[in-house]
Amino acid sequence: MIATNAYAAINSKGSLAPYSFERREPRPCDVHVEILFCGVCHSDLHQVRDEWGGSIYPMVPGHEIVGRVVRVGSAVTRFKAGDLAAVGVIVDSCRTCNNCKMHLEQYCEEGPTGTYNAYERDGKTLAQGGYSTHIVTDERFVYHISDKLSLAGVAPLLCAGITTYSPLRFAGVTSGMRVAVIGLGGLGHMGLKFAHAFGAEVTLVSSSPGKEADARRLGAHNFLLSTNKDQMKKFSSYFDVVLNTVSANHDYAPYLKLLGMNGRMMVVGLPAEEPRVDPFDLLKNRRSVTGSMIGGTTETQEMLDFCAEKNIVADVEVIPMQYINEAYERMVRSDVRYRFVIDLASLK
Ligand SMILES: NC(=O)c1ccc[n+]([C@@H]2O[C@H](COP(=O)([O-])OP(=O)(O)OC[C@H]3O[C@@H](n4cnc5c(N)ncnc54)[C@H](OP(=O)(O)O)[C@@H]3O)[C@@H](O)[C@H]2O)c1
Ligand SMILES: [Zn+2]
Ligand SMILES: [Zn+2]
Repeated sequence: MIATNAYAAINSKGSLAPYSFERREPRPCDVHVEILFCGVCHSDLHQVRDEWGGSIYPMVPGHEIVGRVVRVGSAVTRFKAGDLAAVGVIVDSCRTCNNCKMHLEQYCEEGPTGTYNAYERDGKTLAQGGYSTHIVTDERFVYHISDKLSLAGVAPLLCAGITTYSPLRFAGVTSGMRVAVIGLGGLGHMGLKFAHAFGAEVTLVSSSPGKEADARRLGAHNFLLSTNKDQMKKFSSYFDVVLNTVSANHDYAPYLKLLGMNGRMMVVGLPAEEPRVDPFDLLKNRRSVTGSMIGGTTETQEMLDFCAEKNIVADVEVIPMQYINEAYERMVRSDVRYRFVIDLASLK
């Protein structure tokens, strides 16, 4: 067994605290990765605090994982000891349903296996995430990453990156299209970078007045303060795509009004409470609301390769593991520029 140091939540009320456990020895198809960096996603916080219900404890969060391969099982073909490697939001799926066969494993008909806060496919082994020093994962769910990019900056691509890349690709975002990204946080700043890289005219819609300069530096052509009614009105019925990354409870109405003819709001933010949607806002301009969940294995590798080619990484604040509880408090206050990333050297 592999002795692993971690931070875990023991229940929904407390803070994260040091925790030790053992990872399995690699099976024939497994890759054993020593974790170097792990991003801090708002989904970690939602689940630690049981904001979606059904959380399983003790919980070691973390699904934006990069590290170096220590060893591989006898049947592994794509990795060898010493390679850089990454693990994202899911670590398994049924592998046989139609969606899995199309490498849309995130939509597995039997449900994918989360990297943490989930049971593995045996139904009893608790999956534990990347706020830890080691992980052992089937190679189907392990990705190659470039050695040319900053490793800390690559980590958030595994969730914030793919979760925004996938819907923007699905919507066919390209030059000439008008895209609004709501929320300049972990997901939002990646959505902004991708929409810009795909050639769209991008507008960042934020509830934080202090983020305008950063939004423009990251590629936004326009910046709208969502609390400024006049600014919002100026852009009513303007956009083809609105990518909603907001983590807090909010009303969809002011954002739906931004959509032009056949425009769609692509929802990736997952607040605890259901939003209110006024059907009149949908009727106008034949607007629609769709959701999108991370991305499958093929698209995740495609996104990582795209980032390597275009030199795209997240803007990160690297923190030691011991800072995590303070980082969570800052994340709730939207005070992240623009992703916390844990340096696991702090746990060794
Ligand atoms: N669909 C998926 O597969 C998937 C994957 C990963 C994460 N998620 C979800 O996506 C959401 C965002 O995650 P994240 O890691 O990017 O979080 P984050 O870094 O905390 O960013 C969320 C942003 O939402 C905005 N915001 C916060 N409160 C707001 C309010 N009251 N009204 C309007 N905007 C507000 C803030 O941006 P401004 O300061 O600019 O307003 C904040 O930076 C979370 O709910 C997470 O669980 C979904
Ligand atoms: Zn995430
Ligand atoms: Zn499946």
